[in-house]
Amino acid sequence: MSKHPKVSKRGAIPPFFVMEVMRAAAEREAAGLEVLHMEVGQPSTGAPKGVLDAAHRMLDADVLGYTGSLGIPALRSAIARWYRDRYKVDVPDRRVVVTTGSSGAFQLGFLAAFDPGDRVAMASPSYPAYRHTLTAIGVEPVELPTGPEHRFQPTIELLEKLDKPVQGLIVASPANPTGTMLSREELTELSAWCDANGVRLVSDEIYHGLTYGPEAVTAAEVSESALVVNSFSKYFSMTGWRLGWMIVPDDLIRSVECLAQNLFISAPSLSQAAAVAAFDCTEELDGHVARYARNRSILLEELPKAGFDKLAPADGAFYVYADVSAMTDDSEAFCKRILAETGIACTPGIDFDPARGHRFVRFSFAGSEETIAEAARRLIAWKR
Ligand SMILES: Cc1ncc(COP(=O)(O)O)c(C=O)c1O
Repeated sequence: MSKHPKVSKRGAIPPFFVMEVMRAAAEREAAGLEVLHMEVGQPSTGAPKGVLDAAHRMLDADVLGYTGSLGIPALRSAIARWYRDRYKVDVPDRRVVVTTGSSGAFQLGFLAAFDPGDRVAMASPSYPAYRHTLTAIGVEPVELPTGPEHRFQPTIELLEKLDKPVQGLIVASPANPTGTMLSREELTELSAWCDANGVRLVSDEIYHGLTYGPEAVTAAEVSESALVVNSFSKYFSMTGWRLGWMIVPDDLIRSVECLAQNLFISAPSLSQAAAVAAFDCTEELDGHVARYARNRSILLEELPKAGFDKLAPADGAFYVYADVSAMTDDSEAFCKRILAETGIACTPGIDFDPARGHRFVRFSFAGSEETIAEAARRLIAWKR
């Protein structure tokens, strides 16, 4: 008699519900029906021209083998320069680590900073992969229930109310799904609280560059001990190139290097070589941001007319997070109905907040202006 091999408990993490929406949208498209995509959190544009040109040159001239585990020197220097030019912060090249998307950065950073059994706090709602990645490595995610009164961001008061200490705090400014941001003062205070309490601050800065008021502040400016995570996926419009980076505090560099050698060997070499040019493409990239800003204005103006009148501030990123409790207490069924009756795909809040997300829906405005304007028209007509 054969024995069944074991299946790990740590691998049993929840799915990404947005993928279910994407599947339903794909089925609709396969049946010949139109879909207005407001579920996906990625730019509808490709990489900037300078990056594409550099990639073509590399394909012709290079064998594209493995690179050093921390990234190619030219890219690490270009990233350090970006911090000097953009944020006026001096980050030595040795602290810059190139990763396979920010998703790869989280794996390396979390493994280097936390042990099984540790507890890591984050706002709820927030990007679901924080919770799920931590769970998969035996670290307990600790959710801080936030609402409009906290601008959906962690506060010291919420942290101090916890019944047991935490070893880490994840912040994201601008955040997914709400788009809200932390001011310089708030980030500085959270960072000081972390330092005073032996808590590792992890700052997800993937939506930097996509802001519609004040610019985002980097934790690299206010903390030497924070782990800063960023990516080429959003502002740089290079999602599928799977490239990100970390600014790693000195005490974690060696662990991160050994983990990177063993888990990834290196980030994709073509993407790394081409991404050096991305920092010279800001004119093209800022054009995308101007479109997001127009899309955001359309939604903030039109969504209330469709009954979506309780919206998170959307200071940055490309999302509007709507409290739909006046319309439903089952956001998953509600999103299915919106897709079936209007052709608009949007994301139920349960991905971001398992406890209260059944009362929220996220609309992405990363698409074209025509898509967003048409979606707004359809939602208003649907409401009536
Ligand atoms: C807040 C946030 N962090 C990280 C990621 C992961 O991005 P990537 O692995 O493409 O860098 C995403 C993707 O949507 C995100 O929204």
